[in-house]
Amino acid sequence: MILGVNVDHIATLRQARLADEPDPVVAAKLALLGGADGITVHLREDRRHIQDRDVTVLRKTVTCELNLEMAATDEMVGIAIGLRPELVTLVPEKRMELTTEGGLDVRGQKIHLKEAIKKIRDAGIPVSLFINPDIDDVRTSKELDADMVEIHTGHYANSVPPMTSDELLRVIAAVKEARSLGLYVNAGHGLNYKNVQEIAAIKDLRGLYIGHSIISRAVLTGLEAAVRDMKDIIRRCQ
Ligand code: PXP
Repeated sequence: MILGVNVDHIATLRQARLADEPDPVVAAKLALLGGADGITVHLREDRRHIQDRDVTVLRKTVTCELNLEMAATDEMVGIAIGLRPELVTLVPEKRMELTTEGGLDVRGQKIHLKEAIKKIRDAGIPVSLFINPDIDDVRTSKELDADMVEIHTGHYANSVPPMTSDELLRVIAAVKEARSLGLYVNAGHGLNYKNVQEIAAIKDLRGLYIGHSIISRAVLTGLEAAVRDMKDIIRRCQ
């Protein structure tokens, strides 16, 4: 199972001072040294953390999977086609949110998403859709011609009491349905060193995409160690 490390929060710290450090490009290198299999960045419409320069330099320096998270806008589709990341993950985006709050409204935005997916796939770039753990959303993702889905684990991670079996079962059922339709399946959002085990143990998952918990630990332990710790936990669950 691959681990994609999201380095947005390194850029968040840099943008807090509008400075040139810490640099997400350096962070990406350290994450890879720690055992990450790929690097994820979300280039937001408002450029609140990752900047255009970051994705350009990351494209030149990340030689494994560069996963570009983005909204399905014309501007972003153009950037993705020019950049040629190994993977584009389409996510919903709201200006006021602290982080991506839910999965895509795949059923409500079929026409718009289908058009964006086609343009990106026609350029030879695989497309993943970030969706809620919902069987109908999985089926719609297949209909829209996505290559992969990333199942939103935020509800599982934030459930009270933590990690309720209902939310876990929803994730497991969505993964199973997606695999049965021939989609590759990833999972992410809200995963940390305490709650990742149950998700990492799910059969047939292609990868996990994790940011905040790894970067938070890295502030205290260093990024290589933080990634290595996460990678070890995931490995032990398989
Ligand atoms: N996957 C997607 C699609 C996301 O938007 C995010 C947050 O940027 C993540 C995974 C990582 O979430 P977290 O930072 O909570 O680990």
